[in-house]
Amino acid sequence: MGRTFKRLLVTGGAGFIGSNFVHRTLARRPYEVVVLDNLTYAGNLANLASVSSDSRFTFVQGDIRDAELVDKLMAEADQVVHFAAESHVDRSIMDGSNFARTQVVGTLTLLEAARQQGVTCYLQVSTDEVYGHVEDGVSREDDAPAPRSPYSATKAGADLVVNAYHITHGLTTVVTRGSNTYGPHQYPEKLLPVAITNALDGKPIPVYGDGMQVRDWLHVDDHCDGIDRVLHDGAPGEAYNIGAEHEGLGHGRTNLDVLRAVLDLLGKPYDMLQFVGDRPGHDRRYALGCEKLRALGWQTVLPFPVGLERTVQWYAERRDWWEPLKQDAGYVAYYNRNYGDREKLAAAR
Ligand code: NAD
Ligand code: TYD
Repeated sequence: MGRTFKRLLVTGGAGFIGSNFVHRTLARRPYEVVVLDNLTYAGNLANLASVSSDSRFTFVQGDIRDAELVDKLMAEADQVVHFAAESHVDRSIMDGSNFARTQVVGTLTLLEAARQQGVTCYLQVSTDEVYGHVEDGVSREDDAPAPRSPYSATKAGADLVVNAYHITHGLTTVVTRGSNTYGPHQYPEKLLPVAITNALDGKPIPVYGDGMQVRDWLHVDDHCDGIDRVLHDGAPGEAYNIGAEHEGLGHGRTNLDVLRAVLDLLGKPYDMLQFVGDRPGHDRRYALGCEKLRALGWQTVLPFPVGLERTVQWYAERRDWWEPLKQDAGYVAYYNRNYGDREKLAAAR
């Protein structure tokens, strides 16, 4: 085992992947964990309720762009895992300005504090979307960034700033690029929670375009274990893909495949799928090659059918968690359902 730590600063730890990472880290590592999160619509203290009384856990509500606060927290930590981001492509199409501020300015603020306070290692949580879509084959870590949405462009910008801090200032940085992640506590605006909760409520499920887009679905536990592996053993200055590699195994799944699997699990009819206009600039296919991370000893544990069944069950049992969120998600859902109808969209703004 490579690096070890005492105190991790986890940004965005009240969101989907960050909160799952906090739970797993407290359960499996002896570290103290400090979460910095400003609780946007996607941040939710309910995601951290079961660790809130753990003496090794601290929650700080604040913005990653608050240099004074970040500097103070960084002085007390020896490692940063940076999850905080505006994370939804559809929202970035509606208005990308906050994406640039959070992703680029926020990351720069954290890097500067990490450098000044001499943290041992800075981990940037990035995404396969920075590679843009790939028609065939897989994206590898050395491929040039070619993002195509405001979300992925701002994530790619953040990756470049991280690399610059490694080269210019010698900061020990590592970057992870995860694929589409699913599991408990995912905000009901992304495909799987939208589909599962709409199906549970008997509402139509919007399918953008022809539904033949391909994503490499990765369970959040496998994603978090990949991040943990890179945190401890990743080489300074390097990036690591984290994906389920379904494509490589010949099991590429279209959105329609995934949605039908959800409906099968819930015993609902396929006519709940409602084809709507396509997302502008919609990336057709993502696929990752993950040999570099597998060489560090990581592998996925949860096959998609098992992970999906558990996730569907979680949403079926946790209406208390997602019902209050659906109201806010409603505007985005309305927007999504009407991608094809510019007049309706203009009227709704
Ligand atoms: P999420 O939207 O569920 O959570 C984001 C969290 O960041 C929220 O708790 C929010 O309050 C917080 N946050 C946002 N802006 C902030 C700011 N300025 N200061 C402090 N906190 C702020 O996102 P997620 O799906 O958990 O994604 C986490 C990270 O993983 C992101 O960087 C995302 O780009 C990356 N990622 C996500 C996926 C996926 O499929 N969800 C896949 C690969 C990579
Ligand atoms: P999403 O969960 O938004 O993730 P990303 O855009 O980051 O890949 O969308 C996953 C795929 O599902 C993407 O091809 C868009 C599509 N999609 C729908 O067809 N309907 C929906 O309601 C949503 C939210 C997404």
